[in-house]
Amino acid sequence: MASWKGRDILSIRDLSRGDIELVLKAARRMAPIAEGEKSSKSLEGKILATLFFEPSTRTRLSFESAMIRLGGGVLGFSNVEGTSVQKGETLADTVRMVEGYADVIVLRHPHEGAARLAAEFTERPVINAGDGAGQHPTQTLQDLYTIWDERGKIEGLNIALVGDLKYGRTVHSIATALAGFGASLTLVSPPGLEMPWEIVEEVKATGTPVSTTHRLEDVVPTADVLYVTRIQKERFPDPQEYQKVAGSYRVDLPLLREAKKDMIVLHPLPRVTEIDPAVDRTPHAKYFRQAFNAVPVRMALLEMVLGVG
Ligand code: NCD
Repeated sequence: MASWKGRDILSIRDLSRGDIELVLKAARRMAPIAEGEKSSKSLEGKILATLFFEPSTRTRLSFESAMIRLGGGVLGFSNVEGTSVQKGETLADTVRMVEGYADVIVLRHPHEGAARLAAEFTERPVINAGDGAGQHPTQTLQDLYTIWDERGKIEGLNIALVGDLKYGRTVHSIATALAGFGASLTLVSPPGLEMPWEIVEEVKATGTPVSTTHRLEDVVPTADVLYVTRIQKERFPDPQEYQKVAGSYRVDLPLLREAKKDMIVLHPLPRVTEIDPAVDRTPHAKYFRQAFNAVPVRMALLEMVLGVG
């Protein structure tokens, strides 16, 4: 296993199943600190830089919460307006400069490959918090943590990924990871928004059963996990194409009547119309818990890449 200290987290493919299990177990130990019940100063004196070239609520705030709960400091930007990017500064130069101000860099960017490029220009660990339609590895860690925590295992579960499987980076990341855990996958998308074939091939090559459908109602009775995603409006080259698929799926109470009692509904959030708020009150709804789980998971990861703990 590669050493954790100084390690970049750019794609979920950079982590083996053993690596992922280590993060999940460390995250469980962090839970009381994330809840504010225990305190820690393990990252005192360390600084996290959050460079967000795209909108974010949960990812940025949960990274900040994780760092602050462990006694560290945070700086960064959540919007390129007001930064030198507006003057034409390159990503490489921004990163080279931030290296002097922080010990670890979290980057979100609209272009696929941006985090990998950034990592080439700094010795500091770079964590990819979403690169266009590419990857979102720390979201996957919190998703896997939530499944493991709620269901006690990941192996053998029947997991349905629902929504925009073409442009959604969270589903690209989690599909690859689940293959390594021996789950079976059902891919549910509107026509035209299917999972890229190279990811499907990669998953199938591990021996993972993969099935594909456009009909959500067909998968609900057999799913153990329904992982619902937003149609990624901002990634459509043509707004009319978006209009054709907007509102394709809606998880509501009548649909869930067919579900197994212990089936859980996850969503990386933000949701738009894909989950009726009435679902929030059912025992299936775990997406707000999933959002909270970002904090212990990111705490664990920050300690590991900073060589602490
Ligand atoms: C996701 C993202 O940014 O990819 N959000 C998140 O980090 N929780 C999902 C989305 O925007 O739909």
